[in-house]
Amino acid sequence: WWSSVEPAPKDPILGVTEAFLADSNPSKVNVGVGAYRDDNGKPVVLECVREAERRIAGNSNMEYLPMGGSIKMVEETLKLAYGENSEFIKDKRIAAVQSLSGTGACRLFADFQKRFLPDSQIYIPVPTWANHHNIWRDAQVPQRTFHYYHPETKGLDFAALMDDIKNAPNGSFFLLHACAHNPTGVDPSEDQWREISYQFKVKGHFAFFDMAYQGFASGDPERDAKSIRIFLEDGHLIGLAQSFAKNMGLYGQRVGCLSVLCEDEKQAIAVKSQLQQLARPMYSNPPVHGALIVSTILGDPDLKKLWLKEVKVMADRIIGMRKALRENLEKLGSPLSWEHITNQIGMFCYSGMNPEQVDKLTNEYHIYMTRNGRISMAGVTTGNVGYLANAIHEVTKS
Ligand code: LMR
Repeated sequence: WWSSVEPAPKDPILGVTEAFLADSNPSKVNVGVGAYRDDNGKPVVLECVREAERRIAGNSNMEYLPMGGSIKMVEETLKLAYGENSEFIKDKRIAAVQSLSGTGACRLFADFQKRFLPDSQIYIPVPTWANHHNIWRDAQVPQRTFHYYHPETKGLDFAALMDDIKNAPNGSFFLLHACAHNPTGVDPSEDQWREISYQFKVKGHFAFFDMAYQGFASGDPERDAKSIRIFLEDGHLIGLAQSFAKNMGLYGQRVGCLSVLCEDEKQAIAVKSQLQQLARPMYSNPPVHGALIVSTILGDPDLKKLWLKEVKVMADRIIGMRKALRENLEKLGSPLSWEHITNQIGMFCYSGMNPEQVDKLTNEYHIYMTRNGRISMAGVTTGNVGYLANAIHEVTKS
């Protein structure tokens, strides 16, 4: 039956974790996948999550959730993105379902897009999270690209980005990272978001936001929702993927939300019913445990406060490691500029190293990262930053 099946290529991100786990060298370092570690390099379960689990234990059944997932969790999740007192929530204009984290939200939207606008395309930034390409490919939505990152400045290529927005056919779909762009760590400024939003309005484009890192850009989830709030103020009908993998550390629970802002309540009911219809033959309904954790935390003012504190601790540790990595490289006398390490934000540093330099880091120093030169700052610790800086210096100095 399966004689024609060839092995699939390794995933460019999760394949790095596999290679790291297979390496027995004691000095190995994993700065591949974007998963937060404490300063001892250990995975972290937030205290607010532990407390939510204590409250849930023995107090809930294991019945199916509705096809659209936990209504309470979805309600609380929407408040984070659209604002506590959002008129759109009050007016029931948002069609929203619990999703299998951010990936599941993006995929559900891509399938929805294909089903109801079969001739549409999606504009994706260069570069982007590798899985975005897989998601829209498997949903059979044709992909176009738009300029985003400038390799020389290691910042935003704003002029080219605006040109691409202007030159795209009216009414195009664009995928935007709401904050803490993956892999570059480069976000538009508030003023630039306003210009982007304005131009989207002129062109009648549709913005689909992927917000996988709310809280990781500034340490404050409210501030990190600024891009979305600007689009809402300007009257856009947006789509949005939210994830609790990073900001609550619920990676393996696969809990997130897909929402689509509609013209009115009637449209929102129709859209939600179709999103559920798409979910039913794929996985019927989403898992319950992660949703309970999220709704317990966000629904309790004290636990929510604790969560906000813990997100900030994670974001601040990463900012500290950015400073340390840059300082170490400068102390080693690196001839290159490493300013971008501290200019970029969120979980990742887009180092500018090429695939050959990354291969050298892996083969000679047992440092594991994606071949596009992305360093997951969440894996950098006080203990390994010196080793990492030295290795980067060795492979980049000539
Ligand atoms: C990453 O970019 O490392 C994360 O979003 C994890 C993943 O699923 O790729």
